[in-house]
Amino acid sequence: MRIIFYTGKGGSGKSVISCATALKLSELGYETLVISSDPAHTISDAFEMQVQYIPTKIEDRDKLWAIQVDPLREVREKYGVIQEYIVSLFKSKGLDEVLAYEIAALPNMTEFVSLLKVVEFVESNNYDVIVLDTVPSGEALKNIYLPSLLGSTAAKLIKMMAPLANIAKVVEPIVGVPTPSKEVISEDIKLLEILGRLKNIIVNREVTSLRLIANPDAFSIQNLRRTHLLANLYDINVDLGIMNKVIPEKVRDSYFKGWKDAQEKYLAEAEAAFHPLPVKRLRLFQSEVKGLKLLSELGDELFRDEDPARVYFVGKAIKVTESDLGLEVVVPLPLPFASKYKELCEVERAGEDLSVVISTDIGEVRNFIPLPTIAHIMKLDHAKLLNDELHIYFIH
Ligand SMILES: Nc1ncnc2c1ncn2[C@@H]1O[C@H](COP(=O)(O)OP(=O)(O)OP(=O)(O)O)[C@@H](O)[C@H]1O
Ligand SMILES: [Mg+2]
Repeated sequence: MRIIFYTGKGGSGKSVISCATALKLSELGYETLVISSDPAHTISDAFEMQVQYIPTKIEDRDKLWAIQVDPLREVREKYGVIQEYIVSLFKSKGLDEVLAYEIAALPNMTEFVSLLKVVEFVESNNYDVIVLDTVPSGEALKNIYLPSLLGSTAAKLIKMMAPLANIAKVVEPIVGVPTPSKEVISEDIKLLEILGRLKNIIVNREVTSLRLIANPDAFSIQNLRRTHLLANLYDINVDLGIMNKVIPEKVRDSYFKGWKDAQEKYLAEAEAAFHPLPVKRLRLFQSEVKGLKLLSELGDELFRDEDPARVYFVGKAIKVTESDLGLEVVVPLPLPFASKYKELCEVERAGEDLSVVISTDIGEVRNFIPLPTIAHIMKLDHAKLLNDELHIYFIH
């Protein structure tokens, strides 16, 4: 069983690459399902057929399935009781009904519900590989971690409350908020149990991989470095970076010269930023990528004769360790052009990141290192280079 998540900023190519990966996998004999919750229904566009909210077989393909998750329907059907309860809580606080429903639709609900669907399909045992075109940002990854934050303690607490539900009804007029019914409590327990199972699936490095998709432009890469860091913190294995929409070498038109020069710079930056992950490049096609023929071409160019289900990399790029004194962050550094690092010239904060300048025998190299949130409230103590790794120390 394999689960592959693609993440990257809007328009970077998540949907197209998810569909192309799934198509290639199905051709290799894997029973494959693509899950999308993109409200724009891009996978229906990509496959050029109507993909439904239940697994839909892609025409003329043996082992390829796709599903367009409808988050509102899912919430209504599966978690409606909880939603009603949250709405009743808000209403009891004087919120009008329309607004109460708006607020009860939690942020990231779409991605969250798609993640819950993963558990359903993993446990159905119907598929060898599940490809997710859903995670738009590092923020949504937090959802994956929710179960361990709530953990078994919350489940136990809710279970303990269950027999008290009827008694609680009596105090409702006194405390002024509705108390959850037995039904809500049992749904809550179910949800927490599903979340617990989801976490076990997702932190299993042999099963789940997160892949980063960026375009060679100014905005894509830094955002993904943060996602990469968060994934490391959340214990999710990131196995591959993909730079999509690279203008091919053979395009010599002077009109594109500025674009090509900029792309070269961003490609080098991405390879350094994602080190030690393998980074693949994918060319900008001559048109939008729609239909099985173009998807198949794109999948072949991206993976050639490789199996897209393989785990490309196992490990944590950025390691964060807590001690009594504070925090140690260890970042592996790529060696540009086989040069040697000499010394650290500058280490300073730059917004949410750390800006690090290192001298090498071919000049100075600047790196931006994303930092975990906790580091922002700590003091930067010192940093050192050790075996091509940068060790940064923060103290309370
Ligand atoms: N390598 C490529 N060559 C040409 N066009 C591409 C390539 N990759 C993606 N596209 C096109 O770019 C557009 C955006 O791609 P896609 O919908 O896959 O991005 P996305 O990351 O899923 O976006 P969103 O965040 O909006 O869901 C689409 O029109 C797609 O056909
Ligand atoms: Mg998309």
